[in-house]
Amino acid sequence: QSGVITLDRGFKNTGSCESAITFLDGEKGILRYRGYPIEQLADNSTFLEVAYLLIYGELPNKATFDKFAGDITHHTLVNEDIKKILDGFPSAAHPMGVLSSLITAQTAFYPNSLDPNRSKEETELSIIRLLAKMPTFAAWAYKKKVGHPVIYPNNKMDYCGNFLNMMFSLPADEYEIDPVVAKALDKLLILHADHEQNCSASTVRIVGSSQASLWASISAGINALWGPLHGGANQAVIEMLENIKADGGDTKKWMGKAKDKDDPFRLMGFGHRVYKNFDPRAKIIKKAADDVLEKLGVHDPVLDIAKGLEEEALKDQYFVDRKLYPNVDFYSGIIYRALGIPTDMFTVMFALGRLPGWIAQWKEMKEMGEPIGRPRQVYTGENARDYMNMGKR
Ligand code: SDX
Repeated sequence: QSGVITLDRGFKNTGSCESAITFLDGEKGILRYRGYPIEQLADNSTFLEVAYLLIYGELPNKATFDKFAGDITHHTLVNEDIKKILDGFPSAAHPMGVLSSLITAQTAFYPNSLDPNRSKEETELSIIRLLAKMPTFAAWAYKKKVGHPVIYPNNKMDYCGNFLNMMFSLPADEYEIDPVVAKALDKLLILHADHEQNCSASTVRIVGSSQASLWASISAGINALWGPLHGGANQAVIEMLENIKADGGDTKKWMGKAKDKDDPFRLMGFGHRVYKNFDPRAKIIKKAADDVLEKLGVHDPVLDIAKGLEEEALKDQYFVDRKLYPNVDFYSGIIYRALGIPTDMFTVMFALGRLPGWIAQWKEMKEMGEPIGRPRQVYTGENARDYMNMGKR
């Protein structure tokens, strides 16, 4: 109603838009991208095919997919001047900060992308360029962190192979792409690809609603994702599990901390605003963790600690009452680690996976001509009062 402001902190009961991209049912633990169940896509599709599905609404036929994948392959190279910006970072820079800076820097190369009336072709090209360059930026953020020379994209490789090569290849030592690693990475990226109006997708939409460019909107989304309550949780989960391991596996102590109202600690990787029985992605990732670690011959003690923690929490009244279950971030870090990806790159991996979803949300918002996002407030400040000179204060 006009004039009546309904306060809804955290937008827990607010629908910000109509969308045809992703369907969630929190009670039943259902997740579908454009109607396709996540379980079927995780088992049968590839990340680039899912990216096309999310952005354009349909599964592509071979000719369409080959053109999409081919266009992306031929835009993976980054302007050398952007690499000079990368060189300017100290190696201690967090890869998420480097990634969002490089994406924002790239915006400067497309001033016309700030023009709300630019052509459809330019928008399509901007989407292809973003999908193509994100793996390069992500891998280069890692190379900056470890102080190694960057590895350039190789057009003979597919999306995940190219990313792994840019991450782990060294001038002195060719990286051999392990198909188990590439397949596991591809599945993880599919599982992170979209999740309706989560914090970072809502950020992308609201920034894009001011007619800021796709690149600027995505840079904002990356920064929103970084928070430990959102995509930063996957890094926080591993740090928590390592702390529990250092404590001799004392899960009860850490669960006690999570329940203590005076202790800000939360059980990272647990709970979800929408899922109230289980996160379907966590189920798939938990199973994949067993498969991947077995195939790679990796035994990671924190996996056993994670499973023990889940078992304890499912029996604990505090967690049961609050419907707290493992979410997408609880097991994903264990697989990333087995793939050789370091902890402070986990949220970069989340951003890499979520990119097609952010793009799809931005594109839908533009095509639907959504108005600029501008919520109101309930004012609780001072009533009108007159200015008083400093001498009288
Ligand atoms: C992601 O939105 C999405 O879809 C996000 C995401 C995506 O794909 O985009 O799924 C990805 O961000 C997953 C969530 C990753 N974050 C974490 O794992 C961080 C830990 N979890 C929480 O901080 C929390 O559960 C949230 C942020 C996920 C959800 O928060 P809500 O819905 O705002 O719930 P809340 O903070 O109001 O908590 C409700 C109650 C509170 O207790 P009471 O005040 O009622 O006594 O549950 C408690 C909270 O204290 N609680 C927890 C807890 N999560 C909630 N207590 C201990 N440990 C936790 N993890």
